[in-house]
Amino acid sequence: MADQYAHSGDTKRPTEIPAIRWEEPPEGPVLVLLDQTRLPAEEVELVCTDASALVEAIRSLAVRGAPLLGIAGAYGVALAAVRGFEVDDAASALKSARPTAVNLAVGVRRAHSAYQEELARTGDPRQAAGAALAAARRLHQEDAEASARMAEHGLALLSELLPGGGHRILTHCNTGSLVSGGQGTAFAVALAAHRAGQLRRLWVDETRPLLQGARLTAYEAARSGMAYTLLTDNAAGSLFAAGEVDAVLIGADRIAADGSVANKVGSYPLAVLARYHHVPFIVVAPVTTVDPDTPDGASIEVEQRPGHEITEITAPQVPVAGAEAGGGIPVAPLGTQAYNPAFDVTPPELVTAIVTEEGVVSPVTAEGLAELCAKARSA
Ligand code: MRU
Repeated sequence: MADQYAHSGDTKRPTEIPAIRWEEPPEGPVLVLLDQTRLPAEEVELVCTDASALVEAIRSLAVRGAPLLGIAGAYGVALAAVRGFEVDDAASALKSARPTAVNLAVGVRRAHSAYQEELARTGDPRQAAGAALAAARRLHQEDAEASARMAEHGLALLSELLPGGGHRILTHCNTGSLVSGGQGTAFAVALAAHRAGQLRRLWVDETRPLLQGARLTAYEAARSGMAYTLLTDNAAGSLFAAGEVDAVLIGADRIAADGSVANKVGSYPLAVLARYHHVPFIVVAPVTTVDPDTPDGASIEVEQRPGHEITEITAPQVPVAGAEAGGGIPVAPLGTQAYNPAFDVTPPELVTAIVTEEGVVSPVTAEGLAELCAKARSA
């Protein structure tokens, strides 16, 4: 599997590399990913020539974050189709590469349906492949547009909830341009506040165990020139207690019909802290993250990650694709069992507002979300 995708080896580019892009060199179309397991030390690209390489990249978190997983899934179907691989098999392997972020299944379904419909209409696999690629490109573009609108709605909400500006925002995991066709979700709102001169500080949770906050959000914050400070996840409590947090902004991997929010593990404790300290807890996510087919939080499948991610310290933190373990330095006695869920679920009553490209739902109720989804469908 490893030789099916190779790093480009170009690690010195100071310019912004997009998280994902489709390329058509003479050897055939490829999907190029910025390898997020290597950030911030190196900006190297991963070139996928088939869907199985992409599945591996998804599992190893080289490509990650809910909206980007959707875009990647759609391009993965297109890649299989354009290169003449078995498309149905590729779609099902991609869809199940990670279970929690519903965007992955949504993206795969979009491109797969476009492929199937065009194949049924014309009987021509090349035309069907073109339709799958067009669907992936559309999703990519839509995500960029959604990101800009979420930033607008989110900034307006912050001004309403916290008149006076000078916001000190706490965020968890990574939600910027590394996870999106645009500027992201929660990070896009913080960025809009920064650009409007309203962000005093971004508090960045390191996000154990894979350090998406320390490695990726700090990297994005540094590049955007905003004032930011990194903290361990368990330092958040003392920060709230000291009155240093005005709002929490996070993304989401899946929002159930009742408004329960699955996001990176550690989000739920932040919601509890925020409620205790009377601080708004705001979730920013595109409508594609709302899953009307998942009725409630208990029905969300939470991905369990391998124990070695916490029994070992690795650098980078993510195992090499195909390796059995992280190959890191053991920090726990040999044979220690680990509990390592990738996500947790925050109940709707702890969420102040859900910000989407279609508007804000607050209070968070099943009815409010259903209305929002209906609005998105009719748009
Ligand atoms: O395991 P990851 O890194 O894919 O988890 C990502 C997150 O939890 C993000 O917060 C979430 O996808 C929202 S991104 C807009």
